[in-house]
Amino acid sequence: MPSEESIFLPNPDIVRNCHVNSITQYTQMYRKSIEHPEEFWGDIAQHFYWQKPIDPERFFNYNFDVTKGPIFTKWLDGATTNISYNLLDRNIQLGNGEKIAFFWEGNHPSNHLSITYKELLNEVCRFANVLKSRNVRKGDRVAIYMPMILEAIIAMLACTRIGAVHSLVFAGFSADSFAERIRDCQARLLITADGTWRGEKLIKLKTICDQSMQICQKAGHMVDTCIVVAHLQRSTTSSGLQSSPGNKVFMQNGRDIWWNDLVPSAATTCPPEWMQAEDPLFMLYTSGSTGKPKGVLHTTGGYLIYAATTFKYVFDYKPEDIYWCTADIGWITGHTYVVYGPLANAATSVVYEGTPFYPKNDRFWDIVDKYRVNQFYTAPTAIRALMKFGEDIVKKYDLSSLRILGSVGEPINPEAWLWYYKVIGRGKCSIVDTFWQTETGGHVLTPLPGVTPMKPGSAAFPFFGVQPILLDECGKEIKGEGEGYLVFSKPWPGIMRTLFNNHDRYETTYFTKFPGYYCTGDGARRDADGYLWVTGRVDDMLNVSGHLMSTAEVESVLTEHGSVSEAAVVSKPHPVKGECLYCFITITEDSVFNEKLLTELKKLVRERIGPFAQPDVIQNAPALPKTRSGKIMRRILRKIAQNDRDIGDTSTLADSGVVELLFKTRPVEA
Ligand code: PRX
Repeated sequence: MPSEESIFLPNPDIVRNCHVNSITQYTQMYRKSIEHPEEFWGDIAQHFYWQKPIDPERFFNYNFDVTKGPIFTKWLDGATTNISYNLLDRNIQLGNGEKIAFFWEGNHPSNHLSITYKELLNEVCRFANVLKSRNVRKGDRVAIYMPMILEAIIAMLACTRIGAVHSLVFAGFSADSFAERIRDCQARLLITADGTWRGEKLIKLKTICDQSMQICQKAGHMVDTCIVVAHLQRSTTSSGLQSSPGNKVFMQNGRDIWWNDLVPSAATTCPPEWMQAEDPLFMLYTSGSTGKPKGVLHTTGGYLIYAATTFKYVFDYKPEDIYWCTADIGWITGHTYVVYGPLANAATSVVYEGTPFYPKNDRFWDIVDKYRVNQFYTAPTAIRALMKFGEDIVKKYDLSSLRILGSVGEPINPEAWLWYYKVIGRGKCSIVDTFWQTETGGHVLTPLPGVTPMKPGSAAFPFFGVQPILLDECGKEIKGEGEGYLVFSKPWPGIMRTLFNNHDRYETTYFTKFPGYYCTGDGARRDADGYLWVTGRVDDMLNVSGHLMSTAEVESVLTEHGSVSEAAVVSKPHPVKGECLYCFITITEDSVFNEKLLTELKKLVRERIGPFAQPDVIQNAPALPKTRSGKIMRRILRKIAQNDRDIGDTSTLADSGVVELLFKTRPVEA
């Protein structure tokens, strides 16, 4: 097993042609990005179109210190541009009109499509005109709940064309969660599809949207337009039928409209709305440790140059490459590295609708082989799930096109890293373990493929413009080797600017613990060679298969059930998901802890949050370990979940008998 001492040098054949191919070059570029950000980012910004040019006097400005006034970050303030113009019109002018922007691969292997840059621009303009005709204006929020289909990307870019702010919600969230997000951002227009196949499972998206719109209406918020892509009608079903008969969806007169009833007749030109560099581009919800999701807001100019630059260097993208990121567009990875980063570089990408396991467990490798993918970007949870099926199914395919393998979403364990490196990368590819967050907009810590000697499990070094710092509990900087809170002392262009409609929460969540720094909420360790190792969340957040959620949000769902008086949720290591949910519940006196209750609770969590949040273990806890002041001692609950009796100091525990009881009554499945 590789350890911290294991170092894998990048393959010289790859290094030779990389955009950045020596430590000296990286160091020079990095230094310039920190010491002269105006020059570094100014050179990059020149490649993009600014309707009103960048004012060197207002290149960038910020305050990260709450004690000195409100927190803010501004890049390229005063310049105007349009993202869709830069991604499409500009690339077409550069001669990429006939280049494929996306190869779309459906859930069923017989469904596939491709779209060129020129075709994409036409479709984006058409849909932008449709949005305008439904009264969507600059600054309005548009909610998108879509499967991995090209219309999702078209819808996002159409919003940017007219200056509307898209708010995608991952289509695995429940109707309740979606409704909460629609209401929070006050979206009046919603875009969805009738449904999607994920493997053999049919997901009826429009039905979920109907429930969400009903919940919104009851709470006093009206969605006045819902545009629906008829996707099932053109999909091959899991049983091989040409389309899905009998999946009639409900369409409410006046509100619900088929995409195809509006789009084909719309004009294929739409002048871009020129946006201020600091105008909102999109918002995306992420879990908050107090339970209520936070609407992370990204703006236009800085995000564009940051997405473009990280994509170019971290994946070493060259014009002839075929790139594939498996992330769903409902997450930030899908925004920055399926849509914005690749298109800003005129890249050709693969977009895949389905799961790694359909029709068989080799689908990912089949797709890599089919499209001759050069850069493949996925999550550790997928790698761990695929490892289980062995090497033979991988060897059936020609994966020799692969050059760079990416990992994102959670720490990658050395065993999975090594399998990825040896079996998928044949020992010849660079692995980029990219650490970042919804909030950071793009990669912040990552190896570079032609530069960084790789250590399995380490996100290595900062990307250009990023200054990571480790702090101890007192806020003192840890220089050299050591472990502490991972914070950043300066903004890079892609960092979020605020939380939608809640700047106070933005300041308290990210900037109050250590004045002067953006606090990631993750811990990290620096080794003797200066490599950074992200050790995971230091707050009450859980990372299940790369999905971030807070213990508070799951606890509040559990206690909604009439039989539960108190709940405490902790994470437990899981061989595939990374972490899973282990819940302790105290039931009311007149209730019984039985299978029926467990089923009801799991269902409740699925309904309120989404299937990915379903608890793995629910333990009956007649009492919870608490301090004398009544605070639940989660540290001890984590030990119980892992059956680890080394619980450390218990002097603050009010009743130590509780701990023994919980160890003794751990359920068998735990
Ligand atoms: O805990 C870190 C983990 O995922 C969190 C961010 O989650 P989210 O905002 O959903 O964005 C995920 C995709 C960028 C981080 O706070 N995380 C993400 N990437 C890594 C990671 N932990 C360790 N190593 C990574 N490469």
